[in-house]
Amino acid sequence: MDCSYRILFPILFFILFVSVSCSRSLVETQIKDLNNSVQALFVFGDSTVDSGNNNYIGTVFKADFWPYGKDLPDHIPTGRFSDGKLTTDFIASHLGIKEYVPPYLDKTLSVEELMTGVSFASAGSGYDPLTAQTTVHTRVINMDKQLEYFIEYKARMEQVIGKEKMETHIRKSAFIVSAGTNDLVFTYFSLPVRRRQYNITDYQNYLLQSTQKFIQSLMDLGARKIGVVGIPPMGCLPVMVTLKSENAIFQRGCVDYYTTVAKEYNDKLQTELQTVMKINAAKYGAIIVYADIHESLLDIIHNYTNFGFDEWKRGCCGSGLLEMSILCNPETMVCVDPTKFVFWDSIHPTEKTYHLLFMALRNTIDILAKK
Ligand SMILES: *[C@@H]1O[C@H](CO)[C@@H](O)[C@H](O)[C@H]1NC(C)=O
Ligand SMILES: *[C@@H]1O[C@H](CO)[C@@H](O)[C@H](O)[C@H]1NC(C)=O
Ligand SMILES: *[C@@H]1O[C@H](CO)[C@@H](O)[C@H](O)[C@H]1NC(C)=O
Repeated sequence: MDCSYRILFPILFFILFVSVSCSRSLVETQIKDLNNSVQALFVFGDSTVDSGNNNYIGTVFKADFWPYGKDLPDHIPTGRFSDGKLTTDFIASHLGIKEYVPPYLDKTLSVEELMTGVSFASAGSGYDPLTAQTTVHTRVINMDKQLEYFIEYKARMEQVIGKEKMETHIRKSAFIVSAGTNDLVFTYFSLPVRRRQYNITDYQNYLLQSTQKFIQSLMDLGARKIGVVGIPPMGCLPVMVTLKSENAIFQRGCVDYYTTVAKEYNDKLQTELQTVMKINAAKYGAIIVYADIHESLLDIIHNYTNFGFDEWKRGCCGSGLLEMSILCNPETMVCVDPTKFVFWDSIHPTEKTYHLLFMALRNTIDILAKK
């Protein structure tokens, strides 16, 4: 098939979450901290938050080989689509939960690891069921299946700690949902099927409806602190610059149309989440927050030298123009210093960028943790 079909996939970006009110009296705050601080982090979505679930399924869309993970402490690839940690790892660490959010499909996880949270995310996935089916010709774990795994998770935990404790645990946990980029970049803009059915406005609305359904399902399953991540400035991802620019070699720059589509989508998502929040805050005591990574990534790209980067227009792996997943492999050349690169491969950020995105989300996380 054509090159975009093979190469474009998942993306996704990240994170975040939840928030709530801050201080009352010091004493009361301390008690609240003890009782309500977030003890687990559950993650759903695509490659930006998949810590290795795709290692365990039959897809070629994996990252469990060198040079992926080369900057992790033991330089061991985990399935994370970066040279190091993901934003969700930094969040878990910041909350004092643990250093890494492991993939649920790892059957060797201890009860302790399961209790403190896992990722159900799958690289290549999206809200549109077609996305997980068609990514690189093989199936990845769609969002409904991720929810099914969460239901299975709850049943397993119930056997260990009992129903009541399990439900309390879930209520106090943070949830991050990060998807939608693959739906737009891959399914909508690279395959013909959906473009025949929907214009871009209608497709955005279709995705928003799916997002809303997903959040509703999470709440029905007990989630009360949910962060929904927006879509990155798609037109600035190196792969989009390569595939959608008129002169992809000599005049590389963001392709504004795609970034505008992402921005529009994020604006609608924020409005949608506010509505869902109003309805459900009273009903369930739930908190639903929009997690912006769009503006922070755009800021990093626009002012990359201020952040100590030398390059954003190509990734660190290979030529940096198209490579990702199996095209970024042990035979591929890698840049000397990934901390000089905004992107690790043609679509996924380096650990340094993921850390900067985490920093931009930290205030929201702090508020959440203090609930
Ligand atoms: C908080 O925890 C303390 C000690 O475990 C307990 O006595 C108290 O009832 C809890 N408060 C709430 C609101 O759960
Ligand atoms: C998309 O199609 C809808 C009808 O389904 C129409 O109302 C809308 O104006 C169209 N939007 C664009 C951008 O073409
Ligand atoms: C990035 O650039 C914009 C506009 O040039 C500026 O307003 C903003 O403060 C800069 N941000 C950083 C972090 O340098």
